[in-house]
Amino acid sequence: MSNYHIKHLEEYYQVYRKSVRNPENFWEEIAEEHFLWRKKWDKVLEWDFSKPEVKWFQGAQLNITENCIDRHLATRGDKTAILFEPNDPNEGAEHITYRQLYHRVNKFANVLKEQGVKKGDRVCIYVPMIPELAISVLACARIGAIHSVVFAGFSATALATRINDSDCKVVITADGSFRGSKTIDLKGIVDEALEDCEGVNTVLVAKRIDSDIQMKEGRDLWLQPLLDAASDQCKAELMQAEDPLFILYTSGSTGKPKGMVHTTAGYMVYTAYSFKNAFQYRENDVYWCTADIGWITGHSYIVYGPLCNGATTVLFEGVPSYPDFGRFWDIVEKHKVNQFYTAPTAIRALAKQGGDLVEKYNLSSLKVLGSVGEPINEEAWHWYNDNVGKGKSPIIDSWWQTETGGIMITPIPYVTPTKPTYATLPFIGIQPCLMDENGNELKGNQVEGRLCVKFPWPSIARTIWGNHQRYKDTYFSSFENKYFTGDGALRDEVGYYRITGRVDDVIIVSGHNLGTAPIEDAINEHQAISESAIVGFPHDVKGSALYGYITLKDTGEYRKQDNLRKEINQLISDKIGPIAKLDKIQFTEGLPKTRSGKIMRRILRKIAEKDTSNLGDISTLLNPECVQDIIDNAL
Ligand code: WT7
Repeated sequence: MSNYHIKHLEEYYQVYRKSVRNPENFWEEIAEEHFLWRKKWDKVLEWDFSKPEVKWFQGAQLNITENCIDRHLATRGDKTAILFEPNDPNEGAEHITYRQLYHRVNKFANVLKEQGVKKGDRVCIYVPMIPELAISVLACARIGAIHSVVFAGFSATALATRINDSDCKVVITADGSFRGSKTIDLKGIVDEALEDCEGVNTVLVAKRIDSDIQMKEGRDLWLQPLLDAASDQCKAELMQAEDPLFILYTSGSTGKPKGMVHTTAGYMVYTAYSFKNAFQYRENDVYWCTADIGWITGHSYIVYGPLCNGATTVLFEGVPSYPDFGRFWDIVEKHKVNQFYTAPTAIRALAKQGGDLVEKYNLSSLKVLGSVGEPINEEAWHWYNDNVGKGKSPIIDSWWQTETGGIMITPIPYVTPTKPTYATLPFIGIQPCLMDENGNELKGNQVEGRLCVKFPWPSIARTIWGNHQRYKDTYFSSFENKYFTGDGALRDEVGYYRITGRVDDVIIVSGHNLGTAPIEDAINEHQAISESAIVGFPHDVKGSALYGYITLKDTGEYRKQDNLRKEINQLISDKIGPIAKLDKIQFTEGLPKTRSGKIMRRILRKIAEKDTSNLGDISTLLNPECVQDIIDNAL
């Protein structure tokens, strides 16, 4: 038997050693015993980080939906696969069994086929957190279409950029979405986006809010009548191991968003295996990840990982504050949730409300608490541990990325002793290392450096859609033969890792990864603005918030106008989305620059953090005089 389920620390070390001494054998055993293959592989792994190229299970044929659904039908047909909890608690939850999921995915897959979608075509999914989101993802996978889910909080411009970048022909959306007490006109956003997307010929619209929307003749179709008419049987397309499964966009520090490409077999094996162990999922547990399927966390740990294990996965449409800040705990009590996975920003927002709202509910079902998205600060960790876990549910602080596909560094609950703010030990098969700025690996413990990975794991993204060179430049050219994460980390005296944060110009706001460049680009489109620089500053709920330093073309006219601040944030909302709005906007005469003209963000960051004691040598700047002025007028 392979080590599919790790139960104690010695076993972790033993399995970990096995997985890094002979990764091919290790992953072959896991793949062999726990998945459904239509044809086995010829070769487990082929890789070359200098190209870079990574291929797992070459020659194998499979369909991931047969692993997520079909193979459970005999034993788990009546088990709840997806437990849908709507925005409005009075609407009542919906239990979708594995058998029902099978029929609904097949119907949806047949609708896509009727619309001419074929293997390899890209389908954009812009759907709120309703069952149709998970079902449309699986329907694409069933017929081999590559899904590109765009978070339904993104703006029309952001949506259009992503549709065009991967050349999607079909968009799946809804008439609108519920978000707490608000409704959002999702279809209106799609209509606006499609004005710039010539390639889209079909829009499938799910009905959610029942609003009166415009349907464009010859392009827009209501989904439900098509589903009703479709057959509930659809043969799964045979996929090669390395066929793309999906594209998911993530912000870079510069340029347009990167369409990370994940492929089929390795992604499936790794997300399933890591789900089972990182959450210690056992049959009949109810698992809930609060992320949106629009992010990688939702792809890997709401949809694919849990369903591959025949788990019950909760899909929550709403927000933590509606009808009140007790909603999460109400859901935990109501559905007897055993594993709960959320983000530090949510924990901080809830902690701010105090412990009373938690006390009202019976949370005794909880066994495992998870955290992901950004470093969890000590205070939030303790609040989560004491108030939610009552000191008995281990917290797994799991570090990973859109690019890694699955959890990379994490405690295994009930196996790895936890330590606040530490993601602790590498997951099975993961070989992290720390590098200094000169490209030397820092050996031993009690060192701090840049976090890299030196050996491929099955779910590493294979490329950036349409731009392999950028993939190479971004992740494989900082350090020879290593995948560079963009994060800094330290390793303590026992070998535990603590992630210290991004070392590039990516800022994590409420768990959302935001590149500074796209925001600056959006701002600079304003006719009154000459230049801008965005940095992050500490925020007690969001983790980091955005601080913008902005220079104007004509200082006299706009300097004191609050309207301009509103216009800037509106522009950002339109171009990127409300999540990228600036918390603070300081108008300034100049921005500190190097002689080569590069904005010195380090200085601006320090000022935003209110730490001006040690700005370093500013005398070499092109314009050192502007620094004092910025300090004097800092917000
Ligand atoms: C970046 C990746 C992967 C799920 C959601 C985010 C930061 C993520 C942690 C953690 C410290 C973390 C890193 C990483 N991050 N988890 N447990 N501790 N930092 O995916 O949007 O691709 O962002 O999130 O900086 O590089 P993403």
